[in-house]
Amino acid sequence: MQTNTRLIRKENYEPKELNLHETLFHNANGYIGIRGTLEEGVPTDYPTMRGQYIAGTYEIIPMKQAESLCNLVEEKQTMINVCDTQTIRLSVNGEEFAPVKGGVKDASRVLDMEEGYTERTTVWKSPAGNEIRVRIRRMAHFGIKELFTIEYEVEALNFSGEAVFDSVHMPEVANYSDPDDPRLADESPCYLKSVEKGFSGNRSFSVAETAKSGVRIAVATDHTVVSESRSDSMIREEGNALITRLRVPLKQNEKIAVIKYAAFSDSIRESDPKGKVMQVLKDAMKRPLSELYLAQKEYLSDFHAHSRMEIEGDAELNDAVLFNTYQLLCAAPHDAHSGIAAKGLSGEGYEGHFFWDTEMYVVPFFVLTDPTLAKNILSFRYATLPAARENATLLGHKKGALYPWRTITGVECSGYFPSGSAAYHINGAVAYAVIQYYLATGDADFMVTMGLEILLETARLWLDTGVYDREGRFCIQEVTGPDEYTCMVNNNYYTNASAKNNLRFAADLYEQFRDRAEVKKLAARLKLDKTEIADMKKAAEKMYLPYDEAYGINPQDDSFLDKPVWDLANTPKDVYPLLLHYHPLHLYRYQVCKQADTVLSHFLFPDLQSKETMENSFRYYEKITTHDSSLSTCVFSMTASMLGLKEEALAYFGDSAKLDLMNRHENTKDGVHTANMGGCYMAIVSGFAGLRITDEGLSVNPYVPKGLSRYSFPFAYRGRRLKLTVEKNSAKLELVSGDALEFGFRDTRAELGKEEPWVVKL
Ligand code: BGC
Repeated sequence: MQTNTRLIRKENYEPKELNLHETLFHNANGYIGIRGTLEEGVPTDYPTMRGQYIAGTYEIIPMKQAESLCNLVEEKQTMINVCDTQTIRLSVNGEEFAPVKGGVKDASRVLDMEEGYTERTTVWKSPAGNEIRVRIRRMAHFGIKELFTIEYEVEALNFSGEAVFDSVHMPEVANYSDPDDPRLADESPCYLKSVEKGFSGNRSFSVAETAKSGVRIAVATDHTVVSESRSDSMIREEGNALITRLRVPLKQNEKIAVIKYAAFSDSIRESDPKGKVMQVLKDAMKRPLSELYLAQKEYLSDFHAHSRMEIEGDAELNDAVLFNTYQLLCAAPHDAHSGIAAKGLSGEGYEGHFFWDTEMYVVPFFVLTDPTLAKNILSFRYATLPAARENATLLGHKKGALYPWRTITGVECSGYFPSGSAAYHINGAVAYAVIQYYLATGDADFMVTMGLEILLETARLWLDTGVYDREGRFCIQEVTGPDEYTCMVNNNYYTNASAKNNLRFAADLYEQFRDRAEVKKLAARLKLDKTEIADMKKAAEKMYLPYDEAYGINPQDDSFLDKPVWDLANTPKDVYPLLLHYHPLHLYRYQVCKQADTVLSHFLFPDLQSKETMENSFRYYEKITTHDSSLSTCVFSMTASMLGLKEEALAYFGDSAKLDLMNRHENTKDGVHTANMGGCYMAIVSGFAGLRITDEGLSVNPYVPKGLSRYSFPFAYRGRRLKLTVEKNSAKLELVSGDALEFGFRDTRAELGKEEPWVVKL
């Protein structure tokens, strides 16, 4: 089957579209992220977000609360725009290459997901009539995380003359802001101040530092020229900028190129970031660029072998899923110093903060395709467990850990606590991801060194928060569930169900591993009391899960059904998302949901309710959910699949896989919607294919939705590599590597041997 591994778009050099292309054609490798801005720059009135980021680097800025109530968050971390090494100004025969001002005969952008680069090609005619073809290829290297390259090629089409490149290294740059959008920062200062900068030979370098967090960023750039003729170079400092000027003779029909190498490092990871960037450049420049491209391709060939989904019957969907999974890889950090931001490394939306999006929506993809990477991602939560304990203390808890709703360092950053700090369900999401990782890999070492401690500390928090009511039910009060149009409620069904799962697994897995030396030490360190495990079991068992007899549904919380229902049918289209048009209090007084809440918990914990209750609930919530959050429709789709509501599953799946490609929320310019990308993957794998991993093992329950004829995907399970192929009338599970296994198919058990694939009629 033919997959378009290249995303190709025409480049019209229009302001709005350029902004969108900056996101769609950004380069990232989990460590650095560079937006696809134009090397030559744009006029000052263009809405550009000219950004380069390093995962997990931040500045701390004040977040003044209007009233200084006790222990409110008064400062936050914000991701920093670390440097500008993208700028390269070209002139040919004294005329500046400025396609935004006209003269473009043809232009396109490409993202190549097999080769791992982006490319912009422009055929341009200068005012004097000189024609050139400019092809600019950019790569954030997956193998050498600190390295970003720009290969800038120029071909003179109808003249001979000279090309002059002014390549800029600007260490102090401002962040982007939009005071009218709560999803972006409202100020745009320049957070880094130069500590040291200059040239070492022809190599530019800079070290800059933030004022409050003390994070230092080191950057170095260098160039090589590819040309048959002799070129010359000159370096200069102009204000803050370090500029390398390269003069290269141009002969008609000859291609010349400048290759710009930039290396990035930070003081969070390196004791000598400057030494690191100089070394990275030295090593990288010893190798021909072609070799670096090849290494990139090889890295991606491995990634695709383990993750490439193939969908027949809808070519656009097939391509969109590839785009999404590629973006997930670009966003995924490889160490414990960073989580996955809501926008990955593609833009500054949500200020680079990490939310529950990572554990609930993105980790499932890596658990099934690259479990080692999943473990790395979870190790960030382990590294920030001390901060989560402090957060719990600040909120008045005597024990346990509460992960922050939004953060970079592990410290809470939400300014508005009703839909921030109160979202305790993040603990449930982190615990869920740890449990899923363990069930899918059997990685006992991870559990005894990291996972169990996370589970116990998050479970303790539930014990500390909840209370038994007069009927002996364990209740969790004053929290906010996933639906942010309803805040500060008692017994949010979703929160209670995920706390139950957290408590149960914390107790069970502790008992499973209690004899391991590491766990004995852990229990002593945590001063884990024997009765606590029994308390966890009891709270899990007695957890109150609201149920309404009259409607036959699970109410979202204790008071939800007493509120009037928002009249969505008569709500004008131009007031969505509601959060930008109504005061929060107004929204809280209605039955109206921003996103899947109870519907998500039914998908995650289906054994807690009857199919009838889940279906009634689905029908109920779908009438009052706006899907103003991009985290919603994918969940409705997978829950519909689980309930056998195939038409609904397809309708909700709809275009969500193409959300960014089609800019459906009209804010892809601020960065891609990472959680939705992971959610769409799950809507196929866990929704259409019904793949589940529980403590009873692996099971599948696949079908092919209308409009598709076939789909297949590889996945990992307990040291094995498998591939599931689903057709209208049959399904096939193959063992690619590893041992035979038993698994569930609908209500039966099936066996997959080493020799033969398992095939079943549907
Ligand atoms: C959603 C949250 C999500 C956040 C970041 C909000 O709009 O309501 O669930 O975590 O965006 O993606």
